[in-house]
Amino acid sequence: MKLPTFKLEEYFSRTEFKAPYLMCCSDAESFSLQEILALADDETRSIWETLRLGYTQVQGSPLLRSEIAHLYPGLQADNILCCAGAEEGIFCTFFSLLNKESHAIVVTPCYQSLHTLALSFAGSVTTIALDEAHGWKLDLDRVKDAIRPNTRLIIINFPNNPTGALLNENEVKDLIDIASSHDMYIFSDEAYRLLGSSCLTWDVPLACLYPKVISLSVMSKAFGMAGLRIGWIATQNKELLKSIEFTKYYTTICNSGLSEVVSLIALRAKDIVLKRNCEIIDHNLSLLDSFFSRNHTLFSWVRPAGGCVGLVNSHIATPIDIFAQELVDNTGVLIIPGSVFDIEGNTFRIGFGRKNFPEVLEKFETYVSRYLNNSCQS
Ligand SMILES: Cc1ncc(COP(=O)(O)O)c(C=O)c1O
Repeated sequence: MKLPTFKLEEYFSRTEFKAPYLMCCSDAESFSLQEILALADDETRSIWETLRLGYTQVQGSPLLRSEIAHLYPGLQADNILCCAGAEEGIFCTFFSLLNKESHAIVVTPCYQSLHTLALSFAGSVTTIALDEAHGWKLDLDRVKDAIRPNTRLIIINFPNNPTGALLNENEVKDLIDIASSHDMYIFSDEAYRLLGSSCLTWDVPLACLYPKVISLSVMSKAFGMAGLRIGWIATQNKELLKSIEFTKYYTTICNSGLSEVVSLIALRAKDIVLKRNCEIIDHNLSLLDSFFSRNHTLFSWVRPAGGCVGLVNSHIATPIDIFAQELVDNTGVLIIPGSVFDIEGNTFRIGFGRKNFPEVLEKFETYVSRYLNNSCQS
C-alpha cells in the first residue's frame, strides 16, 4: 500500500519554519517548559524530578489517563489510550477498524489524513461536504443516503479544521441515532475541543454518548503543546481500544515519559492554560470581525463557531495559490491556500490562536491595500 502525498503537512514542511509570520497555524499559543513546570503541584513536581528515562506503559501512564478521563464524564482511565499526537490515533484506529470489505463516510473538508487514510484502508469511501451556504452545516439526510450495508465508520471533525464549524446538540443526537440504527462506529476528531470563543465547555465529547464512538483529542491544539506529541483516543468500547493498542505496538509502542509528565501538569492546570488561550482567540476574533467589515468587498467567511481556524473566501481576482506565494515572498506572512485542502475556488485557511496574530493581520492588511493600489495603477 502506498500512502498519498499529505498535502497539508508537505506544505508546512516546505514553509512553516522559513516564514516569520504564520497566519495559518492550527494550534493555540504555546507555553515554555519553564512556564508549565511552574504550574506543577507537589506530586507532579516530584514525578518530574525523579523521572527515569525508560520505556513507558503502552496505554499511557495511569495518572495521565485518569487526568484525561476527567474530560469525559462517565469514562475512566481504562477507556483512554494515549498516542503520539492525534495523528497516530487516526492511523491506528482506521487501521484497526477498516478493511477492503468496508465502506466509510467522511465529512469534508477535514484534516487530510481523516480522508486519505480512510481511502487507503477502506474498500470504498463516500465524502459528504459541509454546506458553506448554510454556515457549513452537515446535511444529515446525505449521511443517511450514503449508508451501505457494509458501512462501518462515519468520520467527523468538529470543531472543524479548516472551517471552524460545530455540530449543535440536536445534530449530534441525530448523527448518533443514525449510527446506532445501522450499528456503525463514529470516529469523532475533537482535536479543537475546549478551544474557541464560547468554549471551555464545548458540549459533551461524543465518546460519552454512544459506545461505538471513538473520540480523538490531543495536547497540540487547545493546549498549544504540539511538540509534546501526546494525543489520545477515548471510547467506552474496551475491546476496540485493545485492538487499536495492538496496532500501536507497530508504530510507536509507547509515549515519551517526559511528554507524559508535562501533559499531566498542563492537564491539571487546564483552567489556567485554556483560559489564556481562549482569551487570545476571543481577542483575535474581535480583530477579525473588524477586518472583515472593513474589507468586505475583498474577503468573507463564515465566522468559526469553535477552534482557532477558519476558511476565508478571497474576492481578489488573483488565483489564491499565486496570491499566497506573492504574499509570503513579499511580507513573510504565510496563509494556506484552499487547494491544499482540495477546496475549489479562491479560499485560504487562517489560524488565529497565536499571540502575534494582531501584528500578522496588520501586515496582511497593509500588503493587500498596497497590492490593490499597485494593480489599479498598472
Ligand atoms: C483536526 C485535526 N486532527 C488531527 C491533527 C493532527 O494533530 P497532531 O499534530 O497532534 O498529530 C490535526 C493537525 O492539524 C488536526 O487539525
